[in-house]
Amino acid sequence: MERLTLIDPLDMHLHLREGETLKRVLPYTANLFSGAVVMPNLKTPLCTTQEVLSYKKSIEEACPKERFIPFMTLFFHENLTLEELTLAQIEGIRIIKLYPKGSTTGSEAGVAQILTPKTLQILETMQSLGLILSMHGESGGFVLEREFEFLSVYEEIARTFPKLQIIIEHMSDARSLERIERFSNLYGTLTLHHLLYTLDDLLGQALNPHLFCKPVLKLPRDREALQKAALGAHPKISFGSDSAPHPKEAKESAKGAAGIFSAPLLLPLLAELFERHGKLENLQAFVSDNAHRIYGIAPLGKRVTLLQEESLIEEDYSGFIPPEAGKRVRWRVES
Ligand code: NCD
Ligand code: DOR
Ligand code: ZN
Ligand code: ZN
Repeated sequence: MERLTLIDPLDMHLHLREGETLKRVLPYTANLFSGAVVMPNLKTPLCTTQEVLSYKKSIEEACPKERFIPFMTLFFHENLTLEELTLAQIEGIRIIKLYPKGSTTGSEAGVAQILTPKTLQILETMQSLGLILSMHGESGGFVLEREFEFLSVYEEIARTFPKLQIIIEHMSDARSLERIERFSNLYGTLTLHHLLYTLDDLLGQALNPHLFCKPVLKLPRDREALQKAALGAHPKISFGSDSAPHPKEAKESAKGAAGIFSAPLLLPLLAELFERHGKLENLQAFVSDNAHRIYGIAPLGKRVTLLQEESLIEEDYSGFIPPEAGKRVRWRVES
């Protein structure tokens, strides 16, 4: 039987929520991954270092036994001061997450206008402190063009602050790939769902609300380009699932919430994808080595073994519905 051992897998973009949801979803990640970048878009966004640290504590309390490092993020807002950013840095918060206002779940407190003197000042401070800028980059335009239209903002920031490390989160559009090639300080993360699905899977037949996310799934040619980058373990790209749980009622609704809950399936489905393309040897770089290098993360030495043995994707995981519910996958995690 074929086995694949991964060392220190990292999920560089994860939503854990809070309260009961946090307790229910965290084990799916913490049991397998060495660490994850945890997003700050809670019901009340995490705008201060104090808030981030108390959230970190609740994450650590929710998985006391696991060796798992939550890499915390601070919500970017216009009133971030030098003092706050310095405190964040001292406390080990290295990533500041910027959401354009209204672009996705929990972004109401985001930034309405990005290239203003105030935000440029904050970005300059971040550059001087060595903090990382992580962005949900979508414009207010037509839904399929939003990521592409936002690339000019990334470009402007990358040019103005050449020492600021900038991450294009959840790249969904082939045209984002050429942008990270052109700017040495631009990097990207890729989700599993943008590698596996297109708009056709979301709405080509019956509408599947469990595949609705932001940025929305794109065209076959985008998926193909993203797959090529992932399968080749592009050195500027890390894996970041954007696993984003919402209650079933919020997903199966006339006003369905954006977010795909993929945490329980990530490694088996990634192994299946890489195997199908004869690239299993690149999975370690894609889910681990690249992120360790790009973000300067020290290895923990946690190992997870996958067996090439069919397993069933459950209909629901702790009340959250995954994509591919009820389907079979060729790999499973060794328990
Ligand atoms: C909610 C939670 O914490 O339970 N979300 C949140 O923090 N934004 C649940 C949800 O909306 O998914
Ligand atoms: O689909 C999404 N859901 N995209 C995001 O950027 C946020 C996320 C969420 O928090 O639910
Ligand atoms: Zn996002
Ligand atoms: Zn996200």
